[in-house]
Amino acid sequence: MCCAKQPVKSSMLLLLVWLLLSYFFGNIHCSTVPKNSTDMLSLLDFKQAITNDPGKVLSNWTASTPYCQWAGVKCSRTHTDRVVVLDLAGHSLTGTLTASLGNLTFLRILNLSVNHFSGHLPHLNHLHQLEVLNLSSNSLQGVIPDTLTNCSNLRKLFLAYNFLEGEIPLNVGLLSKLSTLQLTNTNLTGAIPPSLNNTLLEKIGLANNRLTGSIPSELGYLSNLSVLLLGGNMLSGVFPAFLLNMSTLIGLDLGGNLLHGELPSNIGSVFPSLRILLLGINKFEGQIPASIGNASNLEVIALSSNNFTGQVPSSFGNLLQLNKLILEDNMLEAPDTKSWEFLYALRNCNHLNVLSLAGNRLTGAIPDYIGKLPTGLAKLYLDDNHLSGLVPSSIGNLTGLICLDLDNNKLTGTIGEWIGMLKKLQYLDLSENSLNGPIPSSIGNLTRLGVLDLGHNEFTGTIPTSLAYLQQLTDLNFSYNKLEGNLPSVVFSIPTLNTFVLSYNKLEGPMPSEVGHLTQLTELLLSSNKIFGEIPDTLSQCQELNILELDKNCLTGSIPVSLGNLKSLSVLNLSHNNFSGLNPSAIGDIKTLTRLDLSYNRLQGEIPFG
Ligand SMILES: *[C@@H]1O[C@H](CO)[C@@H](O)[C@H](O)[C@H]1NC(C)=O
Ligand SMILES: *[C@@H]1O[C@H](CO)[C@@H](O)[C@H](O)[C@H]1NC(C)=O
Ligand SMILES: *[C@@H]1O[C@H](CO)[C@@H](O)[C@H](O)[C@H]1NC(C)=O
Ligand SMILES: *[C@@H]1O[C@H](CO)[C@@H](O)[C@H](O)[C@H]1NC(C)=O
Ligand SMILES: *[C@@H]1O[C@H](CO)[C@@H](O)[C@H](O)[C@H]1NC(C)=O
Ligand SMILES: *[C@@H]1O[C@H](CO)[C@@H](O)[C@H](O)[C@H]1NC(C)=O
Ligand SMILES: *[C@@H]1O[C@H](CO)[C@@H](O)[C@H](O)[C@H]1NC(C)=O
Ligand SMILES: *[C@@H]1O[C@H](CO)[C@@H](O)[C@H](O)[C@H]1NC(C)=O
Ligand SMILES: *[C@@H]1O[C@H](CO)[C@@H](O)[C@H](O)[C@H]1NC(C)=O
Ligand SMILES: *[C@@H]1O[C@H](CO)[C@@H](O)[C@H](O)[C@H]1NC(C)=O
Ligand SMILES: *[C@@H]1O[C@H](CO)[C@@H](O)[C@H](O)[C@H]1NC(C)=O
Ligand SMILES: *[C@@H]1O[C@H](CO)[C@@H](O)[C@H](O)[C@H]1NC(C)=O
Repeated sequence: MCCAKQPVKSSMLLLLVWLLLSYFFGNIHCSTVPKNSTDMLSLLDFKQAITNDPGKVLSNWTASTPYCQWAGVKCSRTHTDRVVVLDLAGHSLTGTLTASLGNLTFLRILNLSVNHFSGHLPHLNHLHQLEVLNLSSNSLQGVIPDTLTNCSNLRKLFLAYNFLEGEIPLNVGLLSKLSTLQLTNTNLTGAIPPSLNNTLLEKIGLANNRLTGSIPSELGYLSNLSVLLLGGNMLSGVFPAFLLNMSTLIGLDLGGNLLHGELPSNIGSVFPSLRILLLGINKFEGQIPASIGNASNLEVIALSSNNFTGQVPSSFGNLLQLNKLILEDNMLEAPDTKSWEFLYALRNCNHLNVLSLAGNRLTGAIPDYIGKLPTGLAKLYLDDNHLSGLVPSSIGNLTGLICLDLDNNKLTGTIGEWIGMLKKLQYLDLSENSLNGPIPSSIGNLTRLGVLDLGHNEFTGTIPTSLAYLQQLTDLNFSYNKLEGNLPSVVFSIPTLNTFVLSYNKLEGPMPSEVGHLTQLTELLLSSNKIFGEIPDTLSQCQELNILELDKNCLTGSIPVSLGNLKSLSVLNLSHNNFSGLNPSAIGDIKTLTRLDLSYNRLQGEIPFG
C-alpha cells in the first residue's frame, strides 16, 4: 500500500538529493580514422569478457566499423586513435571488467553504470586523464583498489549500488580534483577516512553502508560541500559541531545512525540554503530547536524515531517551501491549547504534502483549525497518540488527502458525512478509538479507497450498502464494533477485496452467496456474530483464501465438500457453531492447513484422514 506509514529511510530521498548534480564535459569528437592500436585491442579484450548483450549494443564493434565509431566509443580530436569516452551505461550488459580497460590511457569518461558487471574492479591507475568513473548499479565485488587514487584528474567517482567490501581507500584525499564521491549502497565498512578533505568536494554520498566510528571533523575543511549523505550507517557521536560552519549545505542526511545528544540550538540559523534535513532514526534527545524555522529553504524535515521531547515549534510555520514534516515516533507533547499552535502556523506552508506526528504523546482534542492546513496536504498521520475528543469535521476541507491515519487514540463521537468530501482518500484508518454512531454512508463516495479500517470502535447501525461503490477496496476491517443487521450482499461483491474482517459485531443473517465473487480474498474473518444458515458452496471460488474464521456464529448444515478446493487455506476455524455434518475427504485434502478448529459443533464420524 502506497500509503502505509513507513519510517523515512534516507534512501527514499537520495534520488531527490542527487538531482542536485550537474555534469560538465569538455569537447569530445569522433574520429573517423580506423587504425589498429592498443586502444582497439583493449576494447576487443573488454568485449570478449561480455557474456550477454541483450540489446545487441555491441553489434557494430567489428572490424567493418572503425573503432572510434563503435557504439559508446568516442575518440580524441587531437589524438584521433585514442579513446576518450566509453559510455555503455544502461544496456544490461553482463560480464567482467577486464584489466585492459586500464590501458585506455586517454580515457576521460568511463560510464558503465546500470549494467550487470560483476567481479572485481580492475586497476585503473594509469588513467591519468580520467575525469568521470561511473560504475554505479552493477554487481561489482571486492575492495576499491587503493591505486584508484592515482587517477589524479578524477572529478566524479560513482560506485553506488554494488556489492563491494572493505573500506573507503584511506588516501582518497589524494584525489585533489574530486567534486563528487558517490558510494551509496555499496556495503563498505570501517570509518570515514579523515583524509576525505579534498577541498573541491561538493557532494558526498556514503549512505546505506556499514560505516562505523564518528564523523571526522576533517570534513569541516570542505568549504564547498552542498550534499552530505551519511544516512543508514552505524555512525556514532553527537551532532558534529563542525557542520555548523558549512553554510553551503543543501542536503544533509545523517538519518539511521547511532547519533545521540541534543541538537545545537542554532542548527537552523546556519544553513541558509538547506533544503533537506534528515536526522531520523537516531538517538537524539531534548527539544526540537525552534531555530529550524529560520532555515527558510527547507523542504523536507525528518526527525522521526528519536527521543525528542517538548513541543513542536510553531516556527515550522515560517518554512514556506516545506513539503514533508516527519516527526513520528518521538516523545513530543501538546498538553494545552497553546502547544497546538504549531498546527495553526503550518497553514502558511502552502507546499505541505506530508505531515506525520504519529507515535508521540500528543494529548487533548485535535483543534478545529486543522481544517486550515493547505489543501495540497496528501498524507496526515496522527495515529498512536493520546488524542481525545471529537474528530473535527473541518478535516473534510483537506480535500487533497490521500492517507488519513488517526488510529490508536482516544477519539470519541461520530464521524459525520463530511468524510465523503475526501474524494482522493486511498487509505483511511480510524481504528482503535471510541468512535460511535453509524458508519457514514458517504464513505461510498471515496471511490479510490484501498484500505478502510474502522475496527475496535463503538460504531453502531448497519453496514452501509454504499460501500459497494468502493471498487478499489482491498482491505476492509470493521471488527470489534457494535454493528448489526444483515451481511449486505453488495459488499460481498467487491472483487478487489483481499482481507475482509467483520469479526466481533452483532451481524446476522446468512452469508451471501456473492462471496464467490471475491476471487482475490485471502482472509475472511467473521468470528463472533450471529450468522446463520449454511456456508454457501460459492465460497470455494475464493481460491486465494488463506485464513477463514467463522467461529462463534450459528452456522448449520454440513461443512461443504467444496471447501476442499481451497488449495491455499492454512487456518480454518469453524468452532462454536451448529454444524452437523462433515465429509472427511473435504478438509483432509487441504495440504496447506496448519490450524484447524472444528470444536463445539455437532459433528459425528471419522476425523479427516489427511
Ligand atoms: C588490424 O589487425 C588485424 C589483426 O589483429 C589485422 O587482420 C588487420 O589487417 C589490421 N588492420 C590494419 C588496418 O592494420
Ligand atoms: C554503431 O552503433 C551505435 C549505436 O547503435 C550508433 O550510434 C553508431 O552510429 C554505430 N556506428 C556506425 C559507424 O554505424
Ligand atoms: C555516462 O556518464 C556521462 C558522464 O557523466 C554522461 O554524460 C552520460 O550521459 C552517461 N550515460 C548515460 C547513458 O547515462
Ligand atoms: C596493456 O598494454 C601493455 C603494453 O602497452 C601490454 O603489454 C598489456 O598486455 C596490456 N594489457 C592488457 C590487459 O591489455
Ligand atoms: C601513479 O602515477 C605515476 C605517474 O603519474 C606513476 O609513476 C606511478 O607508478 C603510479 N602509481 C601507481 C600505483 O600506479
Ligand atoms: C552515474 O550513473 C548513475 C546511474 O546511471 C546516474 O544516475 C548518474 O547520474 C551517473 N553520474 C555520472 C557523473 O555520470
Ligand atoms: C556485505 O559484506 C559482507 C562481508 O563483509 C557480506 O557477508 C555480505 O553478504 C555483504 N552484503 C551484500 C549485500 O553484499
Ligand atoms: C588532508 O588530508 C591529508 C591526508 O590525511 C593531509 O596530509 C592534509 O594535511 C589534510 N589537509 C587538511 C587541510 O587538513
Ligand atoms: C566552490 O564552488 C563554486 C561553484 O560551484 C566555485 O566557483 C568555487 O571555485 C568553489 N570554491 C572552492 C574553494 O572550491
Ligand atoms: C529514550 O530515552 C529513554 C529515557 O529517557 C530511554 O530509556 C530510551 O532508551 C531512549 N530511546 C532511544 C531510542 O534512545
Ligand atoms: C472549511 O471550509 C468551509 C467552506 O468550504 C469554511 O466555511 C470553513 O470555515 C472551513 N473550515 C475550516 C476549519 O477551515
Ligand atoms: C456523495 O455523492 C453523492 C452523489 O454521488 C452526493 O449527492 C453527495 O453529496 C456526496 N456526499 C458527500 C459528502 O460528498
